[in-house]
Amino acid sequence: MRFLVIGSGAREHALVLAASQDPAVTAIACAPGNAGTAALAESLGVDLTDPAAIAALAEQWRADLVVIGPEVPLVVGAADAVRKAGIACFGPSAAAARIEGSKAFAKDVMTAAGVPTARSEVVDNPAHLDAALARFGPTWVVKDDGLAAGKGVVVTTDVEQARKHALMLLDGGHPVVLESFLDGPEASLFCLVDGRTVVPLLPAQDFKRVGDGDSGPNTGGMGAYAPLSWLPDGFVDDVVERVIQPVVDEMAERDAAFTGLLYAGLALTSDGPQVIEFNCRFGDPETQAVLALLRTPITGLLHAAATGTLAEQPPLEWEDGCAVTVVVAADGYPGKPLVGDVITGGEADGVLHAGTRRREDGAVVSSGGRVLSVVGTGADLEAARAEAYERIAGVGLAGAHHRTDIAARAARGEVSIPGR
Ligand code: AMP
Ligand code: GLY
Repeated sequence: MRFLVIGSGAREHALVLAASQDPAVTAIACAPGNAGTAALAESLGVDLTDPAAIAALAEQWRADLVVIGPEVPLVVGAADAVRKAGIACFGPSAAAARIEGSKAFAKDVMTAAGVPTARSEVVDNPAHLDAALARFGPTWVVKDDGLAAGKGVVVTTDVEQARKHALMLLDGGHPVVLESFLDGPEASLFCLVDGRTVVPLLPAQDFKRVGDGDSGPNTGGMGAYAPLSWLPDGFVDDVVERVIQPVVDEMAERDAAFTGLLYAGLALTSDGPQVIEFNCRFGDPETQAVLALLRTPITGLLHAAATGTLAEQPPLEWEDGCAVTVVVAADGYPGKPLVGDVITGGEADGVLHAGTRRREDGAVVSSGGRVLSVVGTGADLEAARAEAYERIAGVGLAGAHHRTDIAARAARGEVSIPGR
């Protein structure tokens, strides 16, 4: 199988790495890729916002299966274009990717499917903002209705800060979503979906805030671990039954059948799991931890999802133990990151690349805010953490920062669900 991955993050590096260990794969390419994927796969240039260019590339390269990593190409219809060219594609149509691309659409699907989620209102006129804010609190959740790379959300107990963020979004012409605050630890559940059949992967948790102890602004994700020992028994089956399958069925009924990875971000509240958001793709950095534990060859699963045959797949096999991934971010991230700094130790085991590129003189340099995702595995979380942080100690990048507490509370048994 000729396997083409679209994207350039550590998630794509994890997919390329898994494919490189899969005997069914005869050739791998990644577009645009990064310095890490380039060591395992052919690097091809492509504009991620151009579906026709992505489809043309897949044809030219004679791909048997295309996996589209990021949300941006999916939302603009890259998967539709690839399928139209007659090539199997793991990734939802533009119509189905709206589950991530529009929070208002996602809410509408959830309401129709009877899925537990936060109460919400869309505000598109500043004149209606104050009255709407008065219907929420004492913790306000203010979101950009469109794609915002995880940075469009403000959660605050200060109504002035909530108002300021909402006005800033409205000024930029973006409708705002206000939500009731969901209290409880978060879990990400990734499900392979072929339009009808749902196959869940291991639950994971990511860390969105930039600093230790969940301090500082939201980012695209600073680390993750899997599996989650603190979840109640039956959690995955329960969420598939009450959340994922109803949403998948509702989307099929709307002529927006979902093919690809449906990602539910859940809050484990005292009233049970509630949906915070859906994403239409593998999450980053959770994927780096989840795929480190998957023993079943990945490309067969992705191909089955792309071709509607998931129901025929044998049950997934997982490694025992845990995986932890820690993001190494550039100086300045999540604001304006410094780029162009030399990275050393980037070729070591467990080091996945995101914002990296190879300079003409051969040096690997930083080229984005999240530079590396360093993965450790072990018999338990403590061992997996130790390996991840040992590996980070072997990496050099001037001014880089990372969280030191990824999975630390879970390792100490301190994560709990309110009221339990
Ligand atoms: P989103 O962009 O929707 O993924 O939101 C980013 C982060 O904001 C989530 O991972 C949560 O940590 C937080 N968040 C979003 N919505 C809520 C909510 N209704 N209640 C509590 N926290 C939320
Ligand atoms: N881990 C958060 C995301 O991928 O959106």
